[in-house]
Amino acid sequence: PSASEPWRPAAHLTPSKNWMNDPNGLVYEDGTYHAFYQYNPKGNDWGNMSWGHSTSTDLVHWVKEPVAMEATETEEIFSGSIVVDTGNTSGLGSKDQPAMVALYTSAYKDNAPLPKGSQAQSAAYSLDHGRTWKKYQGNPVVDLQPSSQNFRDPKVTWYEPGQYWVMTTVVADDHVVKIYKSKDLLHWDFLSDFSGVGAQGGLWEMPELLEVPVEGTNERRWVMLLSINPGGIAGGSGMQYFTGEFDGVTFRAEGASSPDAPLEDHQWVDYGADFYAATTISGAPGGKPVLFGWMGNWDYAQKMPTTPWRGAMAIPRELTLYAGSSSSNDDGGKPALRSSIAAVPAGVLSSGASAERQLIGADGSKPLGEDFSSRSQLLDVELTPDGDAEAGIELRGLKISYQAQSGTLTVDRSAAGTSNFSDKFSPYHQVRVPLVDGKLKLRILLDTSSVEVFAPESGAVITDLFLPDWPNTDASVFSEGGKAEFSLTGRKLS
Ligand code: FRU
Repeated sequence: PSASEPWRPAAHLTPSKNWMNDPNGLVYEDGTYHAFYQYNPKGNDWGNMSWGHSTSTDLVHWVKEPVAMEATETEEIFSGSIVVDTGNTSGLGSKDQPAMVALYTSAYKDNAPLPKGSQAQSAAYSLDHGRTWKKYQGNPVVDLQPSSQNFRDPKVTWYEPGQYWVMTTVVADDHVVKIYKSKDLLHWDFLSDFSGVGAQGGLWEMPELLEVPVEGTNERRWVMLLSINPGGIAGGSGMQYFTGEFDGVTFRAEGASSPDAPLEDHQWVDYGADFYAATTISGAPGGKPVLFGWMGNWDYAQKMPTTPWRGAMAIPRELTLYAGSSSSNDDGGKPALRSSIAAVPAGVLSSGASAERQLIGADGSKPLGEDFSSRSQLLDVELTPDGDAEAGIELRGLKISYQAQSGTLTVDRSAAGTSNFSDKFSPYHQVRVPLVDGKLKLRILLDTSSVEVFAPESGAVITDLFLPDWPNTDASVFSEGGKAEFSLTGRKLS
């Protein structure tokens, strides 16, 4: 962050200038993570959608690369995914020089090859590790007849048991995920639809079908990730998931919520307002899916007062499943998703200078002092509240609190700096998390203009943007209505 860019994050990917939204084509190859993303090369608002490109070896520090695929007169390049075609199934590379193959959405601006306003899935490939891209001659490779409207966001993975590629896409306004298969990434056959369960909201976007390891076992279970906008748990954009079975043709959700269930009864990947369009990194090492999401919400993203850039990515997360629920809604031990900071960034982030405090707080608040004044920090907190206490930590006006009676964790950004740019910039977000042995553990990644609050024991996370007033670097712990004990470790990131 500098005087002219007070809200520029330290530990999160941002474009140096201009607009960014969804991550696209996340892929790991030979020690390098590639992030492509929805990017406007020409301005700080959504438009001229192209794929920007950055690379990293640790998922925290990013190097800008040239724009990978730019909008043309005839099409914008909407979201999609990339795989490294090591077996040269596409014939676009060779076994010695495998192609990176991108499946992306062509959003047509002209009347050819499909009517203006149509969307269809197209392929492109790179033979130089993602630097330059060629579009496939036979595009689009998947469209819908008679009308290919709001049909987008292809995510491709290798389906090992069937030895073929599987692609999920969505008809956004119909709330239908469409699943396809291919042997060569270029010719696709329809397999099945997934619809009729979970939160419907306005649009369904960015579907992904993946296998997630079940903690404490050698098993993996199928999960469908799905972004919805509006209609998320925190208002506006949000991400839900389903667990179930995939037999190579059909995904069957188990115990899925019904569309008319209250919002809290659906399963949510994140309970904050700013985690959307997340997708996993193809080929990521480590055996656990690594999920990378846009830290934004369509309700107000286009009004965020940051300049000359708009948009940031959340810290990459590792996903596992455990028996139980990520909130205290009792749903009989249905497998629930646990999000934790992925191993690679966790290692990088926890190497900062550390400060510790042990505190017994009575009614009132205590400043944490200089050690906790840094703009970017990783905080590990252990909180033991009395039964009537509402206790927590306040960082630059942002309040992270736990109400013991109801078991509710809240992130309140209403007094944390600038919020008047949109009346949809919702003030606070909540999730119910039980205490374990009377304690609540939190891992908080605080950056210049965002917070990601992980409750490791329940697996829940709240991701929120906020725009603090500088030079406010106040940090304190507080407890109201009863006593609370705190133990904290803070690590400075910059
Ligand atoms: C999700 C999304 C996608 C689309 C892209 C356009 O945020 O709306 O469905 O492909 O953004 O930028």
